[in-house]
Amino acid sequence: MADLNIDFAGIKAPNPFWLASAPPTNTSYQVMNAFRSGWGGAVWKTLGQPIVNVSSRYGAIAYKNNKMMGLNNIELITDRSLEVNLKEMKEVKEKFPKHALIASMMFEKKEEWHDCIKRCEDIGVDGFELNYGCPHGMCERGMGSAVGQNPEVCERITSWVTEVATKPVIVKLTPNVTDITKPALAAQRGGANAVSLINTINSVIGINLETMEPNPTVDGFSTHGGYCGPAVKPISLNMVSEIANHPDFHLPISGIGGIETWQDSVEYFLMGATSVQVCTAVMHYGFRIVTDLIEGVNEYLDKNKMKSINDLCGITAKKMRKWEELDLNYKVIAQIDPNKCISCQLCYIACEDGAHQSIELVKDSRIPKIKEDTCVGCNLCSLVCPVESCITMVKVNTGKEKLFWANHPKNPDKTNEKISLKK
Ligand SMILES: Cc1cc2nc3c(=O)[nH]c(=O)nc-3n(C[C@H](O)[C@H](O)[C@H](O)COP(=O)(O)O)c2cc1C
Ligand code: SF4
Ligand code: SF4
Repeated sequence: MADLNIDFAGIKAPNPFWLASAPPTNTSYQVMNAFRSGWGGAVWKTLGQPIVNVSSRYGAIAYKNNKMMGLNNIELITDRSLEVNLKEMKEVKEKFPKHALIASMMFEKKEEWHDCIKRCEDIGVDGFELNYGCPHGMCERGMGSAVGQNPEVCERITSWVTEVATKPVIVKLTPNVTDITKPALAAQRGGANAVSLINTINSVIGINLETMEPNPTVDGFSTHGGYCGPAVKPISLNMVSEIANHPDFHLPISGIGGIETWQDSVEYFLMGATSVQVCTAVMHYGFRIVTDLIEGVNEYLDKNKMKSINDLCGITAKKMRKWEELDLNYKVIAQIDPNKCISCQLCYIACEDGAHQSIELVKDSRIPKIKEDTCVGCNLCSLVCPVESCITMVKVNTGKEKLFWANHPKNPDKTNEKISLKK
């Protein structure tokens, strides 16, 4: 069986599955229960100056069978005192010395950062996570995403921390930026040992049409919140790949955002992460989901004859290219398996009204027919078909050489140089 132990930027843990800084890491009671259930690490709910929370504070988008496809919150950092948090964190570390306990924090002043770092090191935490991500409340006070959105400030505050911390420092990035590589590189310049991403995405989750009030409502009013859960995974995967592929970025990455199943976590590893963090799925289903994460990843590694998470790291990130580096002569077309088709005609409608009019209904046949000469291979019909593997995309041998945009006759800036890409 593969070995799931990790050394993430110097932080050792029995496995790469950590709880993200959020309500599941509010208390020692919860974190110890999580470790007993199998979680390898926990990032404590963000420490900072005293705050007060509002009520209510969560909203969700339900889609089909998932009641929390997307979760939105207007909660702030921990609402318990630093003393109580430190006492409980110490208790956890004493009972679970081999598990990773990370102190998340956000402060305004250098002295506050230094003081909290020292107190956390005194109780034996394994590392720090600097929360530059909260998109509401804290950013209005110059913290959270206000830091993550400004690379200069991100670098400066990171260096305040790294000049005193003796334990590894992870910078947690906000996705509410245009180019995620800028704050990631700033964190690296500031001396960080790793980055984690994403924190939550600016959002308004919805409106109650009876009352016309925004959700979640605080006495009839609301504020924009942070979006997370399964809906955000594609956004985070893209950001993780952008950082992993940046030629100047060399730090380990902890992937966060929409992880619910072992397959989700494998996608993050393939995109370049070497640990993952989970919040919404635990808030939805509890700590027990870690059993599926551990078993699934173990089996996947074994099946692929791999020994550790590091063997998976970044395999798919290397397959991400710029659009102009994709072969324009590669072609697939749709193919319907007549034995699986249930004649629902969803593919026909989708292609007719929403794509390229390349499926026809044939008289006296219940199976629609693909017009192979006009099908552009867009995938839409296979996406809408309700039957698994009924429509597949098959490769067409065009007999043509690879052709990239740089050499395409329609490109006004066409070069005569042939582009050759690494495998
Ligand atoms: C209710 C709630 C509170 C959160 N509080 C914090 C926090 O205090 N510090 C922090 O760094 N991230 C916080 N987060 C963000 C999560 O740690 C995580 O980055 C985000 O939810 C994405 O992961 P997910 O899709 O698994 O939920 C919070 C998220 C939620 C839903
Ligand atoms: S792949 Fe696109 S163009 Fe081809 S049949 Fe399906 S929907 Fe139509
Ligand atoms: S969507 Fe799938 S099942 Fe329905 S008609 Fe098309 S091929 Fe058949």
